[in-house]
Amino acid sequence: MNVLITGGCGYVGTKLTLALLERTDHHVTVIDTQWFGNHLSPNPRLTVRAADIRAIDEINLSSIDAVFHLANIANDPSVDLNPYFSWEVNVLAGMRLVDRAARQGVKQFIYASSSSVYGVKSEPRVTEDLELVPVSEYNKTKMVAERVVMSYADAMITTIFRPATVCGYSPRMRLDVVVNLLAIQALTKGTMRVLGGEQTRPNIHIDDLVDLYLFALERRLAGVYNAGFENIKVRDIATMIAEQVGAEIEVLPSNDPRSYSICSDRLLATGFAPKKNVAAAIREMAAAYRVGRLKDEPVCYNVNWMMQHHFK
Ligand SMILES: NC(=O)c1ccc[n+]([C@@H]2O[C@H](COP(=O)([O-])OP(=O)(O)OC[C@H]3O[C@@H](n4cnc5c(N)ncnc54)[C@H](O)[C@@H]3O)[C@@H](O)[C@H]2O)c1
Repeated sequence: MNVLITGGCGYVGTKLTLALLERTDHHVTVIDTQWFGNHLSPNPRLTVRAADIRAIDEINLSSIDAVFHLANIANDPSVDLNPYFSWEVNVLAGMRLVDRAARQGVKQFIYASSSSVYGVKSEPRVTEDLELVPVSEYNKTKMVAERVVMSYADAMITTIFRPATVCGYSPRMRLDVVVNLLAIQALTKGTMRVLGGEQTRPNIHIDDLVDLYLFALERRLAGVYNAGFENIKVRDIATMIAEQVGAEIEVLPSNDPRSYSICSDRLLATGFAPKKNVAAAIREMAAAYRVGRLKDEPVCYNVNWMMQHHFK
């Protein structure tokens, strides 16, 4: 099978690309602007193209069987740097990609949406059938992009995942997501700054998300699925890290008291079972830090890096 991964050099995309090469015999093509570098080593079954998905006309999909579409401006503050540009990447480029995929015979299109599309919900079980009330520009781009992908469900298998906040080690590391951010503070400074802490946030281990993408491809899974298995208060995440790493917790007032949680029962009903958790992500990050594989570097913080290097 020939698989295309947009955003294959990103935090999740790097691990997804590696897993496809290691665990399947598929040929993988990655398209990525490489804003945060490229940590993929050469492999005879891998083609990496440093390209922008907005230049879609250059992308020939006629030999591609499945597309994993991950290339997006990937958090609230990065999208806010230039909302017009972000809509171009997250929505318009995605629309042209999915349309081209359908016309050129791609059999499955898998889109990385986000569980943040729900906004703040008071319902105890945030399931896929609840109304989406996105609260940020980023959330809005994700909601509209997934609607566009879904509108091609008559032409190919369309799969939408709404992942929780991802945690755990990747060769292309992000340290601006909650578990990773607190863990790196604990590891480098011996203290974590928790803003508020009473907010509940849903989490997923990066390896479980990668397993899920492979599961979706293998099973030809269609539809919309939440993907997050632990809804935890930020303060409790910090406590887990403090217990494992031996760090202090400093609680400061928060300007973002929003709580989110999701219910992934629909996904679990398909037979998918997560193997890891937040505790494992912390343990693995601590081990990677101790051997020098994990470093606290500016490129690990998307919005600051983009501001300094791509929006000068
Ligand atoms: N990390 C999370 O917690 C999380 C949670 C839910 C959903 N997601 C979604 O998963 C996807 C991957 O996120 P990530 O955490 O790996 O982010 P990331 O920023 O590490 O990866 C995104 C990759 O896309 C590339 N990219 C961005 N715009 C591009 C363009 N116009 N053309 C080509 N390449 C482009 C970047 O260079 C980067 O390598 C995103 O769509 C994100 O919205 C992430």
